[in-house]
Amino acid sequence: MLNNNLLNKLEIKKRLLEKLNTISGNQADQESQIMISYSAKKENYIDVNDSEIDKDLINKILKERIKGKPLAKIINEKGFWKNIFYTDDYTLDPRADSEILVEQILNDCSKIKNKKKFNFLDLCCGTGCLGISIIDELENSFCDFIDISKKALNACKKNIIKFEKQKNSKLFHSDLFENYPINRLKNIDIIVCNPPYIPTSNYLSLNNETLYDPRISLDGGELGIDYYVKIIDHLINVKFKGSLYFEIDPIINENMYKYLLEKGIKIVYKKVDYLSLDRLIKITLPKNN
Ligand SMILES: C[S@@+](CC[C@H](N)C(=O)[O-])C[C@H]1O[C@@H](n2cnc3c(N)ncnc32)[C@H](O)[C@@H]1O
Repeated sequence: MLNNNLLNKLEIKKRLLEKLNTISGNQADQESQIMISYSAKKENYIDVNDSEIDKDLINKILKERIKGKPLAKIINEKGFWKNIFYTDDYTLDPRADSEILVEQILNDCSKIKNKKKFNFLDLCCGTGCLGISIIDELENSFCDFIDISKKALNACKKNIIKFEKQKNSKLFHSDLFENYPINRLKNIDIIVCNPPYIPTSNYLSLNNETLYDPRISLDGGELGIDYYVKIIDHLINVKFKGSLYFEIDPIINENMYKYLLEKGIKIVYKKVDYLSLDRLIKITLPKNN
């Protein structure tokens, strides 16, 4: 632990790295910087001065981290895209993998010229990291956020307030589309969705850190594709005309692609993540639906 008051920032980082290497693996460097900047109430490690570092607070965080609790769940914060989001026991901590959804949507939107207003839906929003990051980048956008968990919606609301996006957002407590007004859906240009997708039989063998996220944010039913099926079936029924951007995962892709083929659904494109694994699909629904 850090019991020498004379340690400077670099020495503290070195000691933290020694402790974190076995627990955090290749995240150790990043986590040590986050602990230091969090303790100094600064967003960036680079801006922290030695005198601002709270060593007692770092010791407290380290104690929890050594027990295996994810850093984001200890400090209730996680960096995503360009911001630091509030997260807690009731939300999935935002993952770097999901940033590809933001990146692609922004990329596609930059090609749409003269669009006055852009309405979209962040379905299964959790912290709201996807929707808020997009609103933040697109001036004329408006996002509806849906989650079944009231507590997750509370976290999303905190983030909306933190980033001052109240005028560009509306929250809906709903089991998928159950309490979501059909006339709002008619004005939605795109839906972005990172649903729970871990097959139930794989859920309990997830690593301990992932199990700190709520089960409702992870368990995607027997094959892991229950949510995709329910969402797509509903949207076909209501003749949704927009595009859908889904996060996907190698664990479900075979079943997912089989389902899409059976339904005659067109994959506009797929994108791979940092590990070259399929991570995103953009789809449109059959024209004659
Ligand atoms: C994988 S997390 C995604 C959170 C966030 N969008 C992200 O990318 O970090 C899935 C979210 O879906 C929500 N959820 C689970 N079942 C739902 C349902 N039937 N209707 C709406 N939301 C649901 C969970 O509460 C959780 O917040």
